[in-house]
Amino acid sequence: MAPIFIVNRVNELRVQISYHDHRYYVLDDPEMTDAEYDRLFIELQILETKYPELQSTCSPIERVGGKALGTFLSIRHKVPMLSIHTIAGNNPIDFDKQIRRLLSLGDNSTPVEYVCELKFDGLAISLRYEDSILVYAATRGDGEIGEDVTNNIMTIKSIPLRLYGNPPAILEVRGEVYMSRSNFELYNTLQRAAQLPTLVNPRNGAAGGVRQLDPNVASKRLLSFFAYGLGEVQGWRSPLPTTHKEILDTLELFGFPVSGEYTVERGGDGLIRFYLSIASKRALLPFDIDGVVYKVNRLDWQEKLGFRTRQPRWAAAQKFPAKEELTIVEAIEVQVSRTGAITPVARFRPVFVGGATIKNATLHNADDVARKDIRVGDTVRIRRAGDVIPEVVEVILEYRPYNSMPFMMPEVCPICGSKLLRLTGESVSRCIGSLYCLAQRKKKILHFASRRALNIEGLGEKLIEKLVECCLVCDPVDLFALNVPLLSNLDRMGTKSAIKLVKNIEYCKRTTLARFVYALGIQGVGEYTASSLAEYFGNLDNIIAADKMQLQQVQDIGPIVAISIWSFFRDIQNKDVINRLREAGVHWLPIPVSASLNNDYPLLDKSFLITGVLESLTRIEVSARLRELGAKLAHNVSKDTDYVVVGRNAGSNKVDKAQKLGLVILDEPGLMALLAVAAGSG
Ligand code: IVH
Repeated sequence: MAPIFIVNRVNELRVQISYHDHRYYVLDDPEMTDAEYDRLFIELQILETKYPELQSTCSPIERVGGKALGTFLSIRHKVPMLSIHTIAGNNPIDFDKQIRRLLSLGDNSTPVEYVCELKFDGLAISLRYEDSILVYAATRGDGEIGEDVTNNIMTIKSIPLRLYGNPPAILEVRGEVYMSRSNFELYNTLQRAAQLPTLVNPRNGAAGGVRQLDPNVASKRLLSFFAYGLGEVQGWRSPLPTTHKEILDTLELFGFPVSGEYTVERGGDGLIRFYLSIASKRALLPFDIDGVVYKVNRLDWQEKLGFRTRQPRWAAAQKFPAKEELTIVEAIEVQVSRTGAITPVARFRPVFVGGATIKNATLHNADDVARKDIRVGDTVRIRRAGDVIPEVVEVILEYRPYNSMPFMMPEVCPICGSKLLRLTGESVSRCIGSLYCLAQRKKKILHFASRRALNIEGLGEKLIEKLVECCLVCDPVDLFALNVPLLSNLDRMGTKSAIKLVKNIEYCKRTTLARFVYALGIQGVGEYTASSLAEYFGNLDNIIAADKMQLQQVQDIGPIVAISIWSFFRDIQNKDVINRLREAGVHWLPIPVSASLNNDYPLLDKSFLITGVLESLTRIEVSARLRELGAKLAHNVSKDTDYVVVGRNAGSNKVDKAQKLGLVILDEPGLMALLAVAAGSG
C-alpha cells in the first residue's frame, strides 16, 4: 500500500502537470520551462511504476500512448452527432431569411444574432466526461454509432482528462481533432528523413491518427482539438447557458480549447462580412479550414427551429471553393528553363480548384515523377499548395488505364537536341545548349530585359518570342541593334510603340554593375548575390578575373555558386556576349569604394504593400522603417509587388489578388521578423 504522503504527492503532481498542459497546449502561455515540466512528469512516472495501485485513467501519464488495440469498440452516442447542411447557392442572406421566416420574425424586427465559427478540416469527436473525468472519446461514425478512440484521444495534450470548474455531472463535448500545418510539415519532414511514408494533407493526418489501433502512432502526429458544441448534458451546476456563445465561454472555463476566431454577427450582412474576413486570412491560419459555420446564437430559438432529418435548421456551413480536385493528366511535357534545367510539367484537363482554373503543374524532376509514378492518362488528385501553387497530390491507381506507360525523361534537350547533363548531387538535368537552345535563348533574353535586370520597359514575353522566332534577336546584344523600321515591320507593332521601345532600349544602356551582373543570368546568382559581387569587386574585370577562392570571400557565395560564376566567365560565348554588350554601349557608373548599398539598404528596391490594421506600429511608423531600409511602398497589388503585409481587417480583394499572383504574404509577426533581420544586417 502506498503511504499517504505518496498518494498526496501523486495527486499534487497530476494537478500540476494538467495545469501546465493547459497553459501550454490550450492557453499557449506556458509558465515553466520544458526541463522543469519533464522533472514533474518523470517523478510521477516513477511513483506510478512503483505504486501501480495508484494508476488512474485520468493521470497525464496515460497520455503517452498505451498498448495497441486489436479492434475498436463501438459506442452508441447518447445524443446523435449531427451534420450541418451547406447553404444553397452559397449565399448566407438566404439562410438568414429562412431563419427569420421559420421564427416568424417580422421584416422590421431586430436582426438575428449568429455565432460565426471556422469549419475546421479534421475529424469530429465526442468526448464524454462523468464527474469531471474523461470516460471515453468516440468518432462520429454514422452519427448514431461511432468508434471508441479514447486511447488515441488521450495523447492530445490540449484535451483535458479532468475538467476545471464546476461542470455538469455528465458532459459530452463535441469538437474537431485537427493537425496544425506546422506539425504536419514537421511530421512529414521527419518521415522523409526516415524514408517512411508521408501524409497527404493535415486532415488525413488527423483522421488517420485518431483511427490508428496503436496510440503511439497517434501520439507522433501531435494532434490538436477545438471544442464547438455539446452532446448529452445532465445536471448543470453553473447557471444554464442561454446562448451558444455562453456555451463556448463555459467550455473554455472547463479547460477546453475554443478557437478564438469566432465572432457574434447580426443578420445576413454580418454573415457575409465574417465569410469575407475569414476567406482573406485563411492562408495565414495555422491550420486548415474548409469553410465557416453559422449558428443561431439563442438556444431557445435553436430549440424552436429544431431539425430536418439529421441536420439542425439553426446551423449552416458555407464552404470555400474546393482546394483539391480530381482531374486527368492529358500530357506530360518537358520545359527548359533559362539555365537549361529540364522540368517535366503535367497538362491537365482543366479543373477549378480553390478559386482558379488549373491546367498544369510542375512535376519538379525525374525523381519526383518516378516516385509518384505519374503517367499520361492517369486520374490524379491535385491541390494548390499553400493555396496557390498547383501540385499533384497522388495518382488514383484504380482509374489507371490498363495500357498506360511510365513517363520517361528525354535523353536530349527536346528543343535543341543538345546533351543533357546531370551533375552528381543535383536532382535536375540540364540542357548544355545555352544560347544555342531556342528555349533558353528566349528566357535568357527575357531575363536580361526584366525589371530587376536592365529593366527594358515594353519588351515582354510575347514580343521577345516573336523577335527570337524571326531571328531578329539571337542574344541580348541583338536588342541594341533593333531599330524603328525593323520593329514596325512586326505585325501588331505600330510606329509609335516601335519608337518608344527603341528609346527605352537606348535608355537602359546606362545601368549599374549589380543589375548588369544579375542580367547575365549566371546560375545561382540572384539579385542579392549580384549586388554583393559588384560591391565586393568594384568593377566587372575584377569579377571576371576572380578565382574560385576569391569568389567565396563574398557574402553568401559558397563553393557551388563560385564554380558557376567562375565557369560562366571562362565560357567563350559568354565572354563574347559581354564584350559586344560593352561595345554596344552598355555601361555603368563606377561604384565608390565606400558605398555598401546593400548593407545600408537591405530591402533596396523591394516593394511592400500594407493592407489592414497593424497592432504594434502605426502605418506611418512601418512605412518609415521600410523606407529607411531601402524599400518602396506600393498602393496596389501587382506582379511587381514583392511583399503583401496583411493586418487585421485586411482588404480581401488585395489578399486574393496577392495569392493569385503568388506574392509573399506576411502577417504582422512575419513583418516584424523581416524588419528585425533587415535592421540587423545593416
Ligand atoms: S457543428 C449540430 N461546428 O463539420 C452541428 N461542426 O457536418 C454539429 N465541423 O464533420 C456540428 N467545424 O466535424 C460544427 N465549428 C464547427 C465545425 C464543425 C468543423 C465539422 C464537423 C462535421 C461537419 C458538420
